[in-house]
Amino acid sequence: MDVLGILTAGGDCPGLNAVIRAVVARATLTHGAEVVGILNGWEGLMQGKVVPLDRDAVRGILQRGGTILGSSRMDPYVHGDGYDSVARTVRDNGLDGLIVVGGDGTLASALRLSEEGLKVIGVPKTIDNDINATDTTFGFNTAVEIATEAIDRITTTAEAHHRIMLVEVMGRTRGWIAAYSGIASGADAILIPEVKCDLAACADIIRARHRRGHRYSVVVVAEGVEPPSSNAGRGQIDAFGFERFGGVAYQIAPILEEMTGFETRVTVLGHIQRGGTPTAYDRVLGTRFGVGAADFAAEGRWGTMVAIRGREIVSVTLEEACASTRGVDETLFDTARVFWG
Ligand code: F6P
Repeated sequence: MDVLGILTAGGDCPGLNAVIRAVVARATLTHGAEVVGILNGWEGLMQGKVVPLDRDAVRGILQRGGTILGSSRMDPYVHGDGYDSVARTVRDNGLDGLIVVGGDGTLASALRLSEEGLKVIGVPKTIDNDINATDTTFGFNTAVEIATEAIDRITTTAEAHHRIMLVEVMGRTRGWIAAYSGIASGADAILIPEVKCDLAACADIIRARHRRGHRYSVVVVAEGVEPPSSNAGRGQIDAFGFERFGGVAYQIAPILEEMTGFETRVTVLGHIQRGGTPTAYDRVLGTRFGVGAADFAAEGRWGTMVAIRGREIVSVTLEEACASTRGVDETLFDTARVFWG
């Protein structure tokens, strides 16, 4: 009988528990495999922290945010001896293969480990929606719902006080959450990293609105937008070597206030976008990814990642998944622009 390990690594994401539940149910009930959960991402694999998982262990978790296995931003190639630091746990626990649920940093480590001989299948996970080779990722839909609801609420107070409101949303170097939540909430402008940040143009849009009698404006700002001042660098780097974001809207606000003369406030939504119960869409997508990953493991399709293309769950190579990140489509952003001004 095969023994499969599963870990969740990197920033958590609504829908992770749906994936774990689905992998365990499909692997044990359909394929007769055993599953063990590895605690706290790569850290648990390096330290040999594993727990057995059967169907009963994953009951009642579908609706829960976070991950029952825990996560971390530790990386075997940064905090350990790369392949050697994980191979011991794999050998000691008789693991025949590993399902790795993670974003671009986690999948890049999975690819390296796979090239060195580890049997790995990736499952794409991120609220940022920026993983290559899949149309979307679970967690994104929940984050967009949360951000949209927050922007709707901010809009009514913006109107009451005749203010400009900047709402900063997550997404690292990609503006998917900003574009979707901005379109869904009817934002008056959206700033994303994929499009050069032109604050003068943004101020023109706001002034034009106010001239026509709309005395408030809501601007959605992706956290990865280039800071207006070069000496206001973000500085901090996380364990995967990625730049840490958060707070660029605080630099933009006084500039827009100065340019327009309208009182301006900032809300940074932060980790609220990643917390809480996943939407039905993310529960279904996580479940489909989990079933797909367990099937690919049973078929021995190592070195691949489960993805969605159109309506189908498909297998893509980890190389393709890690080749780049996926940015916001120009046509989507053009749709957002129709309503500005
Ligand atoms: O990649 C997911 C994400 O939520 C980004 O949108 C955000 O920049 C980052 O993680 C925050 O990471 P952390 O939880 O480590 O602060």
